[in-house]
Amino acid sequence: MGGGYFTNDTTRAERVRDLFDAIAPRYDLINDLQSLWLHRRWKKRLVALANPRSGQRALDLCCGTGDIAFALARNGADVTGLDFSKPMLDQANRRNCDLTVTFREGDALETGLPDDHFDCVTIAFGLRNLASFENGLREMHRLTKPGGKMLVLDFGKPTFAPWRWIYFCYLKWIVPWFGRLICRDAPAYAYIHESLENYPAQDGVEKVMHELGCKEITIHRILGSAMTINVGVK
Ligand SMILES: C[S@@+](CC[C@H](N)C(=O)[O-])C[C@H]1O[C@@H](n2cnc3c(N)ncnc32)[C@H](O)[C@@H]1O
Repeated sequence: MGGGYFTNDTTRAERVRDLFDAIAPRYDLINDLQSLWLHRRWKKRLVALANPRSGQRALDLCCGTGDIAFALARNGADVTGLDFSKPMLDQANRRNCDLTVTFREGDALETGLPDDHFDCVTIAFGLRNLASFENGLREMHRLTKPGGKMLVLDFGKPTFAPWRWIYFCYLKWIVPWFGRLICRDAPAYAYIHESLENYPAQDGVEKVMHELGCKEITIHRILGSAMTINVGVK
Protein backbone atom coordinates (compact mmCIF):
# COMPACT_ATOMS: atom_id res chain seq x y z
CA MET A 1 0.00 0.00 0.00
CA GLY A 2 1.57 3.27 -1.05
CA GLY A 3 2.12 5.80 1.72
CA GLY A 4 2.34 9.51 1.31
CA TYR A 5 2.35 10.83 4.86
CA PHE A 6 5.48 9.17 6.21
CA THR A 7 8.72 11.03 5.53
CA ASN A 8 11.97 10.72 7.40
CA ASP A 9 13.21 14.25 6.77
CA THR A 10 12.66 17.81 7.98
CA THR A 11 9.10 17.87 6.60
CA ARG A 12 8.00 15.01 8.84
CA ALA A 13 6.20 17.05 11.51
CA GLU A 14 4.37 19.05 8.86
CA ARG A 15 3.19 15.88 7.09
CA VAL A 16 2.07 14.33 10.38
CA ARG A 17 0.08 17.46 11.21
CA ASP A 18 -1.53 17.44 7.74
CA LEU A 19 -2.50 13.83 8.33
CA PHE A 20 -4.23 14.45 11.68
CA ASP A 21 -5.81 17.71 10.49
CA ALA A 22 -7.37 15.72 7.64
CA ILE A 23 -8.72 12.77 9.64
CA ALA A 24 -9.74 14.61 12.86
CA PRO A 25 -13.54 14.43 12.34
CA ARG A 26 -13.44 10.65 11.80
CA TYR A 27 -10.51 9.82 14.10
CA ASP A 28 -12.54 8.43 17.03
CA LEU A 29 -14.82 6.32 14.83
CA ILE A 30 -11.97 4.71 12.93
CA ASN A 31 -10.05 4.07 16.17
CA ASP A 32 -13.01 2.06 17.47
CA LEU A 33 -13.42 0.10 14.25
CA GLN A 34 -9.81 -0.75 13.52
CA SER A 35 -9.10 -1.82 17.11
CA LEU A 36 -12.51 -3.50 17.60
CA TRP A 37 -13.06 -1.00 20.44
CA LEU A 38 -10.01 -2.40 22.26
CA HIS A 39 -8.13 0.91 22.29
CA ARG A 40 -10.49 1.98 25.08
CA ARG A 41 -9.25 -0.88 27.29
CA TRP A 42 -5.59 -0.15 26.49
CA LYS A 43 -6.08 3.50 27.40
CA LYS A 44 -7.85 2.51 30.64
CA ARG A 45 -4.83 0.38 31.48
CA LEU A 46 -2.47 3.30 30.84
CA VAL A 47 -4.52 5.54 33.13
CA ALA A 48 -4.68 2.81 35.82
CA LEU A 49 -0.87 2.59 35.69
CA ALA A 50 -0.53 6.38 35.84
CA ASN A 51 -3.03 6.39 38.72
CA PRO A 52 -2.79 10.10 39.56
CA ARG A 53 -4.21 11.10 42.91
CA SER A 54 -6.78 13.82 43.30
CA GLY A 55 -5.24 17.23 42.79
CA GLN A 56 -2.03 15.93 41.21
CA ARG A 57 -0.88 17.47 37.93
CA ALA A 58 -1.00 15.30 34.83
CA LEU A 59 0.08 16.11 31.28
CA ASP A 60 -1.06 14.16 28.22
CA LEU A 61 1.13 14.85 25.19
CA CYS A 62 -0.20 14.29 21.66
CA CYS A 63 -3.61 14.24 23.33
CA GLY A 64 -5.60 14.18 20.08
CA THR A 65 -9.33 14.16 20.79
CA GLY A 66 -8.67 13.80 24.52
CA ASP A 67 -9.43 10.19 25.56
CA ILE A 68 -6.50 9.92 27.97
CA ALA A 69 -6.78 13.49 29.24
CA PHE A 70 -10.45 13.01 30.17
CA ALA A 71 -9.76 9.67 31.85
CA LEU A 72 -6.95 11.23 33.93
CA ALA A 73 -9.30 14.06 34.88
CA ARG A 74 -11.96 11.53 35.98
CA ASN A 75 -9.29 10.22 38.39
CA GLY A 76 -9.28 13.67 39.95
CA ALA A 77 -6.07 14.96 38.38
CA ASP A 78 -5.56 18.51 37.23
CA VAL A 79 -4.95 17.75 33.54
CA THR A 80 -3.32 19.53 30.62
CA GLY A 81 -3.62 18.04 27.14
CA LEU A 82 -1.25 19.20 24.41
CA ASP A 83 -1.38 18.62 20.67
CA PHE A 84 -0.21 20.46 17.56
CA SER A 85 -3.28 19.72 15.42
CA LYS A 86 -5.97 22.37 15.82
CA PRO A 87 -8.72 20.17 14.29
CA MET A 88 -7.89 17.36 16.75
CA LEU A 89 -8.03 19.87 19.64
CA ASP A 90 -11.35 21.20 18.33
CA GLN A 91 -12.76 17.69 18.69
CA ALA A 92 -11.30 17.47 22.22
CA ASN A 93 -12.77 20.82 23.22
CA ARG A 94 -16.16 19.78 21.88
CA ARG A 95 -16.09 16.89 24.38
CA ASN A 96 -14.80 19.10 27.21
CA CYS A 97 -18.31 20.00 28.42
CA ASP A 98 -17.45 20.65 32.05
CA LEU A 99 -14.08 22.18 31.07
CA THR A 100 -12.07 20.05 33.46
CA VAL A 101 -9.13 19.71 31.07
CA THR A 102 -6.96 22.53 29.76
CA PHE A 103 -6.11 21.87 26.13
CA ARG A 104 -3.11 23.66 24.61
CA GLU A 105 -1.88 23.85 21.05
CA GLY A 106 1.83 23.09 20.96
CA ASP A 107 4.69 20.86 19.93
CA ALA A 108 5.41 17.84 22.14
CA LEU A 109 9.11 18.27 21.43
CA GLU A 110 9.15 21.84 22.70
CA THR A 111 6.23 22.35 25.03
CA GLY A 112 7.46 25.50 26.76
CA LEU A 113 6.03 24.07 30.01
CA PRO A 114 8.09 24.26 33.25
CA ASP A 115 10.67 21.71 34.45
CA ASP A 116 9.74 19.12 37.12
CA HIS A 117 6.09 20.20 37.03
CA PHE A 118 3.88 17.15 36.50
CA ASP A 119 3.22 14.12 38.69
CA CYS A 120 2.71 12.09 35.53
CA VAL A 121 3.29 12.63 31.83
CA THR A 122 1.55 10.32 29.37
CA ILE A 123 1.71 9.91 25.62
CA ALA A 124 -0.54 7.48 23.72
CA PHE A 125 0.04 6.66 20.06
CA GLY A 126 2.10 9.83 19.84
CA LEU A 127 5.77 9.10 20.46
CA ARG A 128 6.07 7.08 17.21
CA ASN A 129 4.89 10.18 15.31
CA LEU A 130 7.53 12.57 16.59
CA ALA A 131 10.49 13.59 14.44
CA SER A 132 12.70 12.21 17.26
CA PHE A 133 11.24 9.80 19.80
CA GLU A 134 14.38 10.24 21.93
CA ASN A 135 13.79 13.99 22.15
CA GLY A 136 10.14 13.32 22.95
CA LEU A 137 11.18 11.17 25.91
CA ARG A 138 13.73 13.82 26.97
CA GLU A 139 10.97 16.43 27.01
CA MET A 140 8.68 14.10 29.00
CA HIS A 141 11.51 13.54 31.49
CA ARG A 142 12.19 17.26 31.83
CA LEU A 143 8.52 17.96 32.59
CA THR A 144 8.09 15.14 35.12
CA LYS A 145 8.64 15.84 38.84
CA PRO A 146 11.30 13.73 40.56
CA GLY A 147 9.38 10.64 41.70
CA GLY A 148 6.74 11.20 39.01
CA LYS A 149 5.88 8.76 36.22
CA MET A 150 6.37 8.77 32.46
CA LEU A 151 4.08 6.45 30.51
CA VAL A 152 4.09 5.57 26.81
CA LEU A 153 1.33 3.57 25.10
CA ASP A 154 1.90 2.66 21.47
CA PHE A 155 1.94 -0.09 18.87
CA GLY A 156 4.58 -2.61 19.84
CA LYS A 157 6.74 -5.10 17.99
CA PRO A 158 5.84 -8.69 18.86
CA THR A 159 8.90 -10.88 19.39
CA PHE A 160 7.16 -14.11 18.26
CA ALA A 161 7.88 -13.98 14.50
CA PRO A 162 4.69 -15.62 13.13
CA TRP A 163 2.49 -13.34 15.25
CA ARG A 164 4.56 -10.29 14.21
CA TRP A 165 4.06 -11.25 10.55
CA ILE A 166 0.27 -11.59 10.92
CA TYR A 167 0.05 -8.37 12.91
CA PHE A 168 2.18 -6.37 10.45
CA CYS A 169 0.08 -7.71 7.55
CA TYR A 170 -3.03 -6.46 9.37
CA LEU A 171 -1.46 -3.01 9.81
CA LYS A 172 -0.15 -2.89 6.26
CA TRP A 173 -3.19 -4.15 4.34
CA ILE A 174 -6.36 -4.14 6.45
CA VAL A 175 -5.99 -0.91 8.43
CA PRO A 176 -5.52 1.26 5.27
CA TRP A 177 -8.65 -0.37 3.89
CA PHE A 178 -10.59 1.01 6.90
CA GLY A 179 -8.98 4.38 6.19
CA ARG A 180 -10.17 4.30 2.58
CA LEU A 181 -13.67 3.17 3.56
CA ILE A 182 -14.27 5.67 6.35
CA CYS A 183 -11.99 8.66 5.63
CA ARG A 184 -11.42 8.11 1.89
CA ASP A 185 -7.76 8.28 2.86
CA ALA A 186 -5.88 4.97 2.75
CA PRO A 187 -2.40 6.62 2.95
CA ALA A 188 -3.29 8.17 6.32
CA TYR A 189 -3.74 4.69 7.72
CA ALA A 190 -0.87 3.10 5.77
CA TYR A 191 1.16 5.56 7.86
CA ILE A 192 0.72 3.42 11.00
CA HIS A 193 2.68 0.54 9.50
CA GLU A 194 5.30 2.80 7.92
CA SER A 195 5.92 4.74 11.10
CA LEU A 196 6.10 1.56 13.19
CA GLU A 197 8.72 0.07 10.86
CA ASN A 198 10.82 3.17 11.55
CA TYR A 199 10.30 3.19 15.32
CA PRO A 200 12.15 0.97 17.83
CA ALA A 201 8.97 0.50 19.89
CA GLN A 202 9.04 -0.91 23.43
CA ASP A 203 12.72 -1.89 23.50
CA GLY A 204 13.93 1.46 22.14
CA VAL A 205 11.76 3.35 24.63
CA GLU A 206 13.06 1.19 27.49
CA LYS A 207 16.68 1.86 26.45
CA VAL A 208 16.17 5.64 26.40
CA MET A 209 14.37 5.55 29.75
CA HIS A 210 17.46 3.81 31.16
CA GLU A 211 19.74 6.44 29.59
CA LEU A 212 17.64 9.19 31.15
CA GLY A 213 18.14 7.59 34.55
CA CYS A 214 14.54 6.47 35.11
CA LYS A 215 13.87 3.92 37.84
CA GLU A 216 11.29 1.13 38.13
CA ILE A 217 11.22 0.76 34.35
CA THR A 218 8.61 -1.75 33.18
CA ILE A 219 7.07 -2.87 29.92
CA HIS A 220 3.42 -3.98 30.00
CA ARG A 221 2.66 -6.19 27.02
CA ILE A 222 -0.81 -6.49 25.55
CA LEU A 223 -1.83 -9.06 22.89
CA GLY A 224 1.64 -10.56 22.64
CA SER A 225 3.31 -7.12 22.46
CA ALA A 226 1.07 -5.87 19.66
CA MET A 227 0.48 -2.99 22.07
CA THR A 228 2.85 -2.00 24.83
CA ILE A 229 2.97 0.42 27.71
CA ASN A 230 6.39 1.57 28.90
CA VAL A 231 6.52 3.04 32.40
CA GLY A 232 9.43 4.77 34.11
CA VAL A 233 9.80 6.79 37.29
CA LYS A 234 11.99 9.90 37.26
C1 LIG B 1 -2.59 8.79 16.80
S1 LIG B 1 -3.02 10.33 17.48
C2 LIG B 1 -3.20 9.91 19.19
C3 LIG B 1 -4.22 10.75 19.88
C4 LIG B 1 -4.54 10.31 21.31
N1 LIG B 1 -3.39 10.34 22.15
C5 LIG B 1 -5.16 8.93 21.33
O1 LIG B 1 -4.53 8.03 21.86
O2 LIG B 1 -6.25 8.76 20.78
C6 LIG B 1 -1.49 11.20 17.48
C7 LIG B 1 -1.64 12.66 17.88
O3 LIG B 1 -0.32 13.21 18.03
C8 LIG B 1 -0.32 14.53 17.58
N2 LIG B 1 1.07 14.91 17.31
C9 LIG B 1 1.94 14.32 16.46
N3 LIG B 1 3.14 14.92 16.51
C10 LIG B 1 3.02 15.92 17.42
C11 LIG B 1 3.91 16.90 17.92
N4 LIG B 1 5.16 17.00 17.48
N5 LIG B 1 3.47 17.74 18.86
C12 LIG B 1 2.18 17.68 19.31
N6 LIG B 1 1.28 16.79 18.86
C13 LIG B 1 1.70 15.92 17.93
C14 LIG B 1 -1.25 14.50 16.36
O4 LIG B 1 -1.74 15.77 16.03
C15 LIG B 1 -2.33 13.53 16.85
O5 LIG B 1 -3.39 14.22 17.45
